[in-house]
Amino acid sequence: MASPVEYISHSVEQTRALGARLGRILTGGEVIALIGPLGAGKTQWVKGLSNGAGVTDPDVVNSPTFVLVNEYAGRVYIHHLDAYRLAGPAELGALGFDEMIDSGSTVIVEWADRVISILPEDRLTVTLEIAGPTERRIRGVANGPTSSRLLCVWENR
Ligand SMILES: Nc1ncnc2c1ncn2[C@@H]1O[C@H](COP(=O)(O)OP(=O)(O)O)[C@@H](O)[C@H]1O
Ligand SMILES: [Mg+2]
Repeated sequence: MASPVEYISHSVEQTRALGARLGRILTGGEVIALIGPLGAGKTQWVKGLSNGAGVTDPDVVNSPTFVLVNEYAGRVYIHHLDAYRLAGPAELGALGFDEMIDSGSTVIVEWADRVISILPEDRLTVTLEIAGPTERRIRGVANGPTSSRLLCVWENR
């Protein structure tokens, strides 16, 4: 298993750049669990990731808090979910989570800690912490072969 990686971001731009670096190496089928409090930068990181994955308009990438699922078509197809308002894993299932995984898209789940039991084991967990007014600690942990590959490349670029 790949070793965890840790970055400190000092700006929105750096957070997006870290996301973009991962976005560039996506091939579809990855599951990314995002964990961190409100304002930690989860959505900013996804904007960068989507841009790296070939989604050209960053404005289409927004927190899916109210719609629950956003979809972006880039070089890979991305499902961007927010579990904040879900009662639990069963509700994520009802949203068609398994079908999203089976479709071969990259699935990103904000507030993943609320639905952790439905997520596949082989997922990349990205945790964002507020470390200061513009500082964010961003950690990546892999939990299987696909996520390990992602993490290795994320670290070495
Ligand atoms: N280094 C940083 N990385 C990301 N966001 C930052 C950073 N510094 C300040 N911010 C601010 O924090 C907020 C993050 O918002 P957002 O990405 O929507 O968080 P979340 O989706 O985790 O609730 C934005 O208002 C952004 O301007
Ligand atoms: Mg958000």
